[in-house]
Amino acid sequence: MTTLPINTIINGDSINEMKKLPESCIDLIIADPPYNLSKGGEWKWDNSIELHGMGGNWNKVMQEWDNFTLESYFAFTKAWLIEAKRILKPTGSMWIFGTYHNIGIINVICQMLGIEIINEIVWYKRNAFPNLAGRRLTASHETILWCNKGGKKREYYFDYEYSKSGDFYYDSLKTPGKQMRTVWDISNNKEKRELAYGKHPTQKPIRILKRMIKLASRDGDLMLTPFSGSGSECVAAKMTGRKYIGIELDNSYCEIAIERLNHTKDNEDQLGQLSLNMSESEATK
Ligand SMILES: C[S@@+](CC[C@H](N)C(=O)[O-])C[C@H]1O[C@@H](n2cnc3c(N)ncnc32)[C@H](O)[C@@H]1O
Repeated sequence: MTTLPINTIINGDSINEMKKLPESCIDLIIADPPYNLSKGGEWKWDNSIELHGMGGNWNKVMQEWDNFTLESYFAFTKAWLIEAKRILKPTGSMWIFGTYHNIGIINVICQMLGIEIINEIVWYKRNAFPNLAGRRLTASHETILWCNKGGKKREYYFDYEYSKSGDFYYDSLKTPGKQMRTVWDISNNKEKRELAYGKHPTQKPIRILKRMIKLASRDGDLMLTPFSGSGSECVAAKMTGRKYIGIELDNSYCEIAIERLNHTKDNEDQLGQLSLNMSESEATK
């Protein structure tokens, strides 16, 4: 029997590392893969690069991990999705972040592999950075695919009650008590503590990750993130009482993730809820 590397950040290649895991061992995958947005192969911050066919002011960070030809990006995406599907439990599901540069490729490959897309979410960023050149519309959303392993039976977990009645006060598009829709209004701003141990150029806010985790997994479940960057998905998993495995190529990002995790308490979310409830009951005494 393989012992799973639970609650660790693995410094390695996600395809190789997922290959070491047994079939159907993971309850939830959150994948924030390279977007294939960096062009030119130089390792630097750069705001002057034109992306042919992609235009304007995208997050044009020049990162080696994000620089593929179209063909190699297709092959890379297929390879990691094959492994993700293999390690996912039939009762599990997978969230995949993307933009118009890569989400079409991911969508096609999911269909080729028989991975079923449950929903496509539009993550609306009302604080999106303006288009400085004024030559096109301001890009103000990312796409997220929610998928299950496929097959005849749909066994994936969905917390319908939470989706209707969770606390989404910050989302102007969510009506309390009503079904959650596929457009989410969530600011991309990070809280101070999310950036306290270092930054990542495409760091995801904890708020959206907690929502994804709670919608599609149970307390104590195991979440894996194959491109863990600064560890946001793992931090959100720890806060919501889930176990985690993160895989990241770049050791400097692994170090940020470990620092962040060392400063996150288990079940931090529930602890917050508990103290809130206690002070409410104190107040009614
Ligand atoms: C879009 S970022 C993820 C950011 C993350 N969601 C966060 O909040 O910090 C993608 C990450 O994948 C890593 N990466 C790229 N190719 C990889 C591979 N083959 N295996 C593991 N990690 C990889 C990059 O170093 C980068 O940190």
